[in-house]
Amino acid sequence: MIMEVIHTVKHLKEAIALIKKQDKSVGFVPTMGALHEGHISLAERAKAENEVMAVSIFVNPMQFNNADDLKKYPVTTESDLAMLESAGCDFVFLPTADEIYAANEAPLSFDLGNLDKIMEGKFRPGHFQGVITVVNKFFNWIKPQKAYFGEKDFQQLAIIRMMSKKLHPDIQIIGSPTLRESNGLAMSSRNRRLAESERNDAGIIYSSLIQLNSLKNNHDIADAKSLVIQKIEEVHPFKVEYMDIVNADTLDSLSDWSESTQMRACIAVWCNEVRLIDNIAV
Ligand code: PAJ
Repeated sequence: MIMEVIHTVKHLKEAIALIKKQDKSVGFVPTMGALHEGHISLAERAKAENEVMAVSIFVNPMQFNNADDLKKYPVTTESDLAMLESAGCDFVFLPTADEIYAANEAPLSFDLGNLDKIMEGKFRPGHFQGVITVVNKFFNWIKPQKAYFGEKDFQQLAIIRMMSKKLHPDIQIIGSPTLRESNGLAMSSRNRRLAESERNDAGIIYSSLIQLNSLKNNHDIADAKSLVIQKIEEVHPFKVEYMDIVNADTLDSLSDWSESTQMRACIAVWCNEVRLIDNIAV
């Protein structure tokens, strides 16, 4: 099948209707483009586990709480399409904002409990409501059997699971591991905004985080967190915005190692005006 690039919701619905008529299963990967190997790992998984692979590329204005971040978000459509074609993608949905939103459309009002009040939610107000608004629309139009999300955005994955359980119980949400650069830096579209030296130095985030696995043997959580933050901030110009060690299921913050068996350490770090996030299992 030749990869089809679809720009309108009308055309998308027609294409999906045809696929459903043929009784084919759809694996869907939502993205904001500026694709890297992390995105492609999700696409390849969708390809392997479904008859049809669909990817969306849409820089969703509703989820940006920072106008400058939206303006500077990298756009590399031509190379994105080439990468998706070589990964065997069947459909790319590449809409404009006007196709997705009515003028002044409000975000979906959906109670995420504590999940959007902490970590990313605390520092990026409105971000997750914007994410679920667009993903809910995509799910309604594409009706995939399976949808793929990266553990790189661990809190987003938890929020999508919660939204989907209520609004789209038939869609299976699949979380996939984080792909990293050789220095450990989690691959991210925003890495393109780092200078080469910053990109090299940013390996400090992952190398410091994984030390938690040994620090936890002889330090309490508060001390271990301080040591990790200190190690990262010793490297100029990195500044930690938050670091939290949470229950991997509920995302509740932990103050003692014994509170949970499945733990996740989550972090946001500024490198000048670029904001990087990462997380690991502890
Ligand atoms: P974006 O940042 O483009 O990411 C698209 C998907 O790729 C997300 O599920 C993300 O977790 C995953 N991803 C990013 N970096 C990864 C890496 N290094 N390894 C593995 N997977 C990785 O997340 C979004 O877009 C948006 O919020 C979206 C869900 C598309 C809604 O607008």
